[in-house]
Amino acid sequence: MLWISGLLLWCSTLCACLEKCEQGVVGQTLQLPCFYQEAFGNFSMEWKRDSEVVLWSVWWDDQRVALWRKPSVAMAADAPLSGNFSLDLLDAGPTEHNTTYGLFINAHNYSVLVCSVCVRMAASFSRPQLKRRTSAVPGGEVVFSCHSSGGFPEPSVSWLINDSQTPPGDSVETVVMTHPESHLYNITSHLTLNISKQSNVSCTVDNEALNETITVTSYGVKISPVVSRASEAMWIFSTALCVVVGVMVAVGVAYQIHLDRVSKRKKLEYQESNLHRGRRRRHLYMDETDELKSEPIETDV
Ligand SMILES: *[C@@H]1O[C@H](CO)[C@@H](O)[C@H](O)[C@H]1NC(C)=O
Ligand SMILES: *[C@@H]1O[C@H](CO)[C@@H](O)[C@H](O)[C@H]1NC(C)=O
Ligand SMILES: *[C@@H]1O[C@H](CO)[C@@H](O)[C@H](O)[C@H]1NC(C)=O
Ligand SMILES: *[C@@H]1O[C@H](CO)[C@@H](O)[C@H](O)[C@H]1NC(C)=O
Ligand SMILES: *[C@@H]1O[C@H](CO)[C@@H](O)[C@H](O)[C@H]1NC(C)=O
Ligand SMILES: *[C@@H]1O[C@H](CO)[C@@H](O)[C@H](O)[C@H]1NC(C)=O
Repeated sequence: MLWISGLLLWCSTLCACLEKCEQGVVGQTLQLPCFYQEAFGNFSMEWKRDSEVVLWSVWWDDQRVALWRKPSVAMAADAPLSGNFSLDLLDAGPTEHNTTYGLFINAHNYSVLVCSVCVRMAASFSRPQLKRRTSAVPGGEVVFSCHSSGGFPEPSVSWLINDSQTPPGDSVETVVMTHPESHLYNITSHLTLNISKQSNVSCTVDNEALNETITVTSYGVKISPVVSRASEAMWIFSTALCVVVGVMVAVGVAYQIHLDRVSKRKKLEYQESNLHRGRRRRHLYMDETDELKSEPIETDV
């Protein structure tokens, strides 16, 4: 009897060293893996949650002759044949957090702790609601509140101002509440600061167990974009003005060119006709050349 308990003790310490934790998510089935090929003949087995038996069964020559289990757990019916003694925790909740499950197999000449599995539970937090409450006094305190709910285990909350500064510790007050039935956490953190309206403030809820970090940011009043919008309007206006003036100048130039061409053509036509007329006149009335010569003198006057 003494050597059996010695063996048991040795086994439990050995298994405790090899203990592995399984991360479960609240509301989902969590499987605790356990494999053992040496169970055959007549034996009984039990899965224990800490010291409480949750599944117990007896096997005679690979036939299951007895089974008792809590409705919240399940195991394959052919476990000794497949060697797969994995236990399913159906709908695991936060109460499973930090518990240890062990599988014991007992035959007439031995008793073994086959597997020992510790359980960690987690649940996602809701996206935090971040509110900014400005005091009525200009330049006075601003209170930010960050609220997130329904997660597990207890998260950490951190604040950041303008993506770089950590606010002083005494400006932050965090309250954690746990729901009495679901055991899920609600967290509300308040940040009270004298801060400019332009500052961006962000709140981060970190659930390490799930590697889940949710950050929400309250953006401050933007002043620069208003200025830039005004300058943008000015820029558009001046560009439009330039275009209009440019078009007007182009039209003016084109019209001038047109006028010049018309007058040139008229001049040419005039000169040509004068030439013809002149020639004709020179040919016909040679005495009129004096009259033609005297014309520019008249216009100059
Ligand atoms: C298992 O137990 C049953 C019933 O007591 C017995 O008939 C059978 O021979 C046993 N088998 C072994 C391998 O001990
Ligand atoms: C072991 O059995 C469980 C059902 O109890 C099953 O979901 C799981 O995939 C099996 N594992 C292996 C490695 O076969
Ligand atoms: C238990 O007894 C069986 C034969 O009945 C033997 O094969 C086995 O090695 C024994 N196990 C231990 C741990 O002594
Ligand atoms: C947790 O927060 C939710 C939603 O914000 C609320 O409905 C619930 O009452 C809160 N629970 C506790 C225990 O404060
Ligand atoms: C904010 O400024 C007011 C006066 O301007 C001062 O009374 C108050 O203590 C300041 N609060 C913090 C948190 O620094
Ligand atoms: C957590 O997530 C980040 C990026 O999403 C990844 O780089 C990191 O390896 C993860 N850590 C763990 C422990 O899963």
